Amino acid sequence: MFDKELVKKIRAAFPRAVKDFTGRERAFFDNGTGTLVCERAAKAEAQARVDCSANIGADFDESQKAKETVLAGREAVAEFLNAPSGDTIVSGESATKLLFDVSYAIGKECNGTENVVITELEHYANVSPWNELAREGKIKEVRFARMNLEDGTLDFDHLQELIDSDTKVVSVTSASNVTGTKIPLERMSSLAKEAKAHFIVDAVHHVPHGPIDVQKINCDFLVFSGYKIFGSHGSYMYMNPEYMENLKPYKVKPSAKSGPFKWESGSRNQAMFASIKGVLDHFLWLAEQIQSQYEGKFEEYNTGNRRAYKIAMDASQQYENLLSKVVLEGIDDVPGLLSIPKVKVFGITDTNRLDERDPTFAFIVDGVPNEDIIKYLWEKGGIATRAANFYSYTVEVFNQSKVNRISLVQYNTLDEVKVFLKTLNAICIMK
Ligand SMILES: Cc1ncc(COP(=O)(O)O)c(C=O)c1O
Repeated sequence: MFDKELVKKIRAAFPRAVKDFTGRERAFFDNGTGTLVCERAAKAEAQARVDCSANIGADFDESQKAKETVLAGREAVAEFLNAPSGDTIVSGESATKLLFDVSYAIGKECNGTENVVITELEHYANVSPWNELAREGKIKEVRFARMNLEDGTLDFDHLQELIDSDTKVVSVTSASNVTGTKIPLERMSSLAKEAKAHFIVDAVHHVPHGPIDVQKINCDFLVFSGYKIFGSHGSYMYMNPEYMENLKPYKVKPSAKSGPFKWESGSRNQAMFASIKGVLDHFLWLAEQIQSQYEGKFEEYNTGNRRAYKIAMDASQQYENLLSKVVLEGIDDVPGLLSIPKVKVFGITDTNRLDERDPTFAFIVDGVPNEDIIKYLWEKGGIATRAANFYSYTVEVFNQSKVNRISLVQYNTLDEVKVFLKTLNAICIMK
């Protein structure tokens, strides 16, 4: 768990954690849309842009360094996800694009009789690629496992009913980008594997919030994006090596016939790999700060930096659970979301179940337009966040066009949450 001193140090590692570029003090609560950058990542990215300003594949130093940067980034991502090696990590422009790429490749194997099972908790990045396959007749249909409306969790019985011998793919978000609800991935993976379906995980929302272990999950693909975890745009996908070799992505003839380069269209952006390595170095630094609390724990992660990543993410998760508890229950004399009149929260609100959710809260206020809430939070409280549909299928299932959302990460503080709650209380009482 982080103490106050460590939270201060973490904030110092993010140049804009306290004030924005205009010098305005504000609390950044829009992290689900894209986090602030950490200094290590920004500096590493800029350095790589200058030092490796050449494409890979030649003998001269800049080109060699560009290649080293790409490989080091892949290796670090592999350790972070507990994937077997950097050769299992493919990069892309965005998670959306990577999921489309995988869906096209899988579609080539289908004959129009198959189904793909997803859930009502998805971002459209994990809906539209499969709908496209159905539209083109490559698969028969896309099936949506229901969400329990009262707490935003997945209806597992319904999921089980949907998976059958024609299921080609089970694809799911690891946590909803609206309600923060986490999906029990290992349980879902067993169902997918029993049906001999490919199991795909969209970890974009969950990635800054807790440890991810692709071997434990037993997934075939897992994607996340750098800008949601303190780095630059650009995304990374773990691929089961067998699928990496056997599936046939769209590619140009001269490009690599195997390995990650086979899946990557065009030249790589080496600065993006430097950025993600910078982010992961931040987590190594964080692990050093708290490792004394973890003696004898996670010893099974015994190669490279795997244990350190696990420690950093576990500690972040615990700290974020504390933030979530305060968001819901309040702090000092300031009521939390659960007791502010007219506030409706979508998702898990039981503070005994915080392990089942990330610190992302979608809410509306009865009788007050979302735009007014967001404007008031910004103007009176300096709370930077937004109301949107967040490209989320879930918002439609809740029968809303937009919801207000706050999403917290490791550099947010209890004091910031208090200001948020005070400001929200004020507008709710006024209206
Ligand atoms: C759960 C989830 N999946 C996918 C995406 C899309 O990610 P990208 O912008 O990298 O395509 C988002 C973005 O908000 C997301 O929250």
